[in-house]
Amino acid sequence: MKLYLAFGLIIAAVMMLVGLTMRMAQAQWLSIPPDVFYELLTLHGAGMIIALVVCAMGGLWFLMRRRISLSAPLAVAAWALLMLGVAGVVISVVFGHYAGLYTFLYPLPFIGSWPGWATGVFLIGMMLINIGWMIWCFQILGAVLRAYGGLRGALGWNFVWCPKAFAAAGHEPPPPEAFPAVVAGLDGLITGMVAMLLGVALLVRWIDPRVLIDPLWAKNLTYLYMHALANLIIYMLAAFIYVGLSYVTKREYHTSKVFVIAWWSSLVFILTNYFHHLYMDVSSQPQILQYFGELSSYLTAIPVTAVTVFGALMLVWRSRTRWTLGAVFMYSGLIGWVVGGIGAEIDASVPFNLHLHNTLWVPAHFHTYLLGGCLLFVMGWVFLLLESRSEHSTSKLMRSLIFTLSFGGMVVFLLGFYFGGATGVPRRYDTQPLPGPLIAQFATIGVIIMLLGFTLAFFEGLRLRSGFSADRMLWPQNLRDDIS
Ligand code: HEM
Repeated sequence: MKLYLAFGLIIAAVMMLVGLTMRMAQAQWLSIPPDVFYELLTLHGAGMIIALVVCAMGGLWFLMRRRISLSAPLAVAAWALLMLGVAGVVISVVFGHYAGLYTFLYPLPFIGSWPGWATGVFLIGMMLINIGWMIWCFQILGAVLRAYGGLRGALGWNFVWCPKAFAAAGHEPPPPEAFPAVVAGLDGLITGMVAMLLGVALLVRWIDPRVLIDPLWAKNLTYLYMHALANLIIYMLAAFIYVGLSYVTKREYHTSKVFVIAWWSSLVFILTNYFHHLYMDVSSQPQILQYFGELSSYLTAIPVTAVTVFGALMLVWRSRTRWTLGAVFMYSGLIGWVVGGIGAEIDASVPFNLHLHNTLWVPAHFHTYLLGGCLLFVMGWVFLLLESRSEHSTSKLMRSLIFTLSFGGMVVFLLGFYFGGATGVPRRYDTQPLPGPLIAQFATIGVIIMLLGFTLAFFEGLRLRSGFSADRMLWPQNLRDDIS
């Protein structure tokens, strides 16, 4: 877990500086040539998604390993492949000037001004990342299925449909964190195979330009994979909430029937909600898919978010929680998840999508739940681990300072994207039409304030680390004992 978390957070930190550079360029405070802007955008988009996937993989692996047997060498092998892939992506962008973005529309990677080898290295890098990801999915899914009695047991089927017989036989449903594991394992494998198919097709096209690919087929596969991967980050990190908030509130998060059914909904609809990216293809794809995309968007997100957030509120309600930095980050990440989710549903609704499609509303909603939700869950988790082992604690003044700078700055930064989207400023433009640059100036100030808060949090983390005591147990090894 440490390996995954450390590298994930290092990549995220560097990519945040890349993000700041892009926002400064959009604010016209920094002059960078358009091709360099798109190289940075490629690096930032791919880098950030991978960084958070890696953090989520490490965390979920650790949580499941407390309960079931998982091979550490296999997890390290998956990590090594991921890092090899990251190196490929970095080489193709930094040395090859590849700037075709990570979710591209075919044939963009083959018609850019960069050399052909850069496209090949980028594609191979992304495929290596996908292979590492699929190994992890195989490992976690296999272990969960073995531990909880196959797919039926891991999905809590009998627990929902035959509760009396289930209880009479002395069975217990899987713990809450097993559901993100099974959903990530299954959907990750299905979409990972789709990505391999697309990757091989693109590689063949790279080797032999006479081979032609149907652009709509490529678009479907690209969005199915990338959208599912970005979605799965949130669902995997929900496991941190189930365990982390249980720890800070000293109450256990239970698996209930509603909870299980909500996860079934996500399991199925993560695979079909990407159609909301293809509304513009209504004349070339069957119209039913557009309706299905809209419906799936609601059914993926709402049940699990509602159940998780409601459960979290119930845990915290009158619990006399000590609001340490870890608890604050983790709890406030729920706000980012909900607000970003609402922003996503608005964009996925056709009448709004007509206006918001490909505007800054898109980065607005995903930055809200990835930065304001997922990254905070990861930071919260890291701080909970540090706080559990350290003899030092964070002063109230320091907590308030970190909270105010991080959240105050983040809100200003995110509002910049929302206002930009609402006023029709297009996404992925290095030079934006008015009022884009003006909004970007406010947003840049927000980013700088937020990064100051994160920097303070980093040094506070180091201080907590220096206070580690040998006789304090590494939490959450015996979390359940702590609660009971
Ligand atoms: C300091 C924090 C950050 C800043 C300043 C920042 C800034 C930006 C900017 C300016 C863009 C381009 C928007 C456009 O015009 O389309 C962008 C895109 C993006 N960002 Fe961030 N970002 C930050 C954090 C994050 C985080 C934490 C994530 C996710 C984990 C993330 C993921 C992405 C993705 C996936 C894209 C889309 C790339 C593409 O269009 O291909 N960013 N970001």
